[in-house]
Amino acid sequence: MKTLRLVVILLVVFASESVLAQSLREAVGKYCLIGAAVNQWQSDGQVPEADAVLKRHFNCAVAENCMKPEVLAPAEGIFDFRTADKFISYCQQLGLKATGHCLVWHSQAPDWWFTNGYTAAPVSKEVLKERLIKHIKTVVGHFKGQVIGWDVVNEAIEDDGSFRKSPYYNLLGEEFIEIAFRTAHEADPDAELYYNDYSMAKPSKRDAVCRLIRHLKEKGLRIDGVGMQSHNGLDYPDLKEYEKSIEAFAACGVKVLITELDINVLPNPEGFGGAAVEQNFEFQQKYNPYANGLPKAKQQELDKRWTNLFKLYYKHRNQIGRITLWGVSDENSWLNGWPIKGRTNYPLLFDRNYQAKPVVNEIINIFK
Ligand code: XIL
Repeated sequence: MKTLRLVVILLVVFASESVLAQSLREAVGKYCLIGAAVNQWQSDGQVPEADAVLKRHFNCAVAENCMKPEVLAPAEGIFDFRTADKFISYCQQLGLKATGHCLVWHSQAPDWWFTNGYTAAPVSKEVLKERLIKHIKTVVGHFKGQVIGWDVVNEAIEDDGSFRKSPYYNLLGEEFIEIAFRTAHEADPDAELYYNDYSMAKPSKRDAVCRLIRHLKEKGLRIDGVGMQSHNGLDYPDLKEYEKSIEAFAACGVKVLITELDINVLPNPEGFGGAAVEQNFEFQQKYNPYANGLPKAKQQELDKRWTNLFKLYYKHRNQIGRITLWGVSDENSWLNGWPIKGRTNYPLLFDRNYQAKPVVNEIINIFK
């Protein structure tokens, strides 16, 4: 009996060791790119734990913030590539393909962007078009050959399928999207170009994104992929609707990219929805129930959600070009600070000490 027990234990240890010997990069990376968003401290080389995880488990990365217009274009006529250039060389050092996020977004644009000079008066249509083109030409030109693809337009469609009434849309109409894709392609003909958005499982949004892809293609413009951000929760989105979107986008002839994957386990405040970064709710203790750790039942629920998602990605591995997590470790996920500041969330695959969570092995097994 004793010997049998020992054999069983050894087998279990051996089995988990051999699984541990594999990485996400080796398993998931056989079928598609697997990446993470990297913050400025990490790409500046200040977090050795992040270097190790990225090198072992990922084959691509995206800058969490430093390639957004507010960072690259702090004042009119001034471009600041210092942090973004460090991100690119960080990726090169670690053997990660870099993707660019993002060229055109109503959010995280610098203060001067939508105003006329330093007055509060709104910018004119002509000037905004000029700024848009100049930004894309300069930025895409700067990173030519260093990024494999760009989120050209981020979040231009509302959940009901209408165009977001952003300053871009209000001044330039939907043509701003065509201008953006055309200019990006001219600036780097080898870069892939993507449309990226959240709540992509919503049927009206799905249909509108499909219409947009078809429209761009009819105009002869290049679009290679659609990014489904995937800021998910334990019970949203409905995976059947999410799968329908994967299938619908693939049927439009583009790659499906899971671009900002994380899973929120904390209770959402009333009125919260989607991933619009402008949402901001006041801290209340009841919204931060797991500050000292996740109860076992919650952990199990979370693990189940991860495996269900990755089973779906495996099923659609021929249509999915990339899976990018929105962060490296729970320690620095944006979901600790959004939509409520000061919470403790558990949204990623590596814990606060940059250790792989047990569910990583289950994901590896799905893709083995
Ligand atoms: C987030 C970053 O993670 C935060 O650090 C920042 O304060 C706000 O933006 N959709 C996107 C990403 O496309 O750029 C956002 O990133 C998250 C939602």
